[in-house]
Amino acid sequence: MATALYRLYRPKKLADLLGQEQVTTVLQNAAAADKIGHAYLLYGTRGTGKTTAARILAKICCCATRQKDAKFRAKGEPCNTCDPCTEIDSGRSVDVIEIDAASNNKVEQVRELIEGARLSPASYVRKVIILDEVHMLALSRGSFNALLKTLEEPPAHLVFIMATTELDKVPATIASRCQRFHFRRLPIDFIIEKLTSIIKSEKLKVDAEAIELLAALGDGSLRDAESLLAQITSLNDAVTADIIEKHLGRLGFNRVAGLAQLILEKKLPECLAQVSKLHEEGHNIVDLTKQLIHYFRRLLTLTYNPDLESLFKQELTGKELTELRKQVALIDPARHIPLIKALITSYSQMRYSPFPTIPLEVAIIEQLKS
Ligand SMILES: Nc1ncnc2c1ncn2[C@@H]1O[C@H](COP(=O)(O)OP(=O)(O)OP(=O)(O)O)[C@@H](O)[C@H]1O
Ligand SMILES: [Mg+2]
Ligand SMILES: [Zn+2]
Repeated sequence: MATALYRLYRPKKLADLLGQEQVTTVLQNAAAADKIGHAYLLYGTRGTGKTTAARILAKICCCATRQKDAKFRAKGEPCNTCDPCTEIDSGRSVDVIEIDAASNNKVEQVRELIEGARLSPASYVRKVIILDEVHMLALSRGSFNALLKTLEEPPAHLVFIMATTELDKVPATIASRCQRFHFRRLPIDFIIEKLTSIIKSEKLKVDAEAIELLAALGDGSLRDAESLLAQITSLNDAVTADIIEKHLGRLGFNRVAGLAQLILEKKLPECLAQVSKLHEEGHNIVDLTKQLIHYFRRLLTLTYNPDLESLFKQELTGKELTELRKQVALIDPARHIPLIKALITSYSQMRYSPFPTIPLEVAIIEQLKS
């Protein structure tokens, strides 16, 4: 597994991009009708498919099978087998140029590229310029102005596909000339789905709880989750939540929920034993406290607004939500608002303390003894 997983499993069709239907449906319909725009701006959360979609779109623009075969064209996808498609995939094509503006913002270079794109394509039906991390272009006037000028009067053969995580840094003069597509944070279920299929085809041994934990650690980004999977499977044969917790220093839902349950049941001796155990096992207590705060915050807000569940569905699996719901019944705001406040205070103390467990233990004792 030498090649990075996320490159190996980069989707090659719009249909394989998970969780972005609001984008893929529109693009597929446009491609099916052969309505290709002159400028696209793909923006949103890191690791959610922007660069991937930009490359698929570039193939749609240039695919030779789409030119020849109207029935195939109506599928709204690239064929991935013709010369243009394979050349674009391997980065060998002269008519599709990908520029990473984050590492390539030299005025002259980018300006020349954009100006050169006015010439007709060498061998494809269109020329495509992919400008990744396009907000970085704003740093260099020359290339930025060249882009603006070309966008104002685009030659018929030219398509710009821009991508960025920071829409607010893209000047309005540029953004307003593009078809804009928002890539959202990926809900945890989609991340689990993709990790599970990678694990299956790579024949990795990762148990269900570990997959859920990796997906949660991805925090809305599939690339991050895939990178963590690669990192952790390079260390061990069989991966469990426990191993991930140790290596990546972040506790899984079950551990945090377990400690929260002990706190809710006011089982002081068991709570203290659990904190000591986690500390001895080498877990990061500062991070544990942070997770506990988030956990109780979820319980408390659900007490007042059960509809928030639909929001938490993005971050938690169905099983975890069921657990959470059971604990909501145990919440007593009179007791648990002070508890959250005490945890927050202990969190800020422990970050600078050589004894991180003590503020947490003291907070728990003070809250549970009364
Ligand atoms: N929606 C998705 N469906 C399936 N796989 C995805 C999706 N989003 C990301 N991935 C996986 O993550 C990898 C990285 O995705 P991509 O480079 O497209 O993200 P990005 O949005 O451009 O991220 P960044 O903002 O950090 O540049 C892909 O190769 C793919 O394996
Ligand atoms: Mg990208
Ligand atoms: Zn093709």
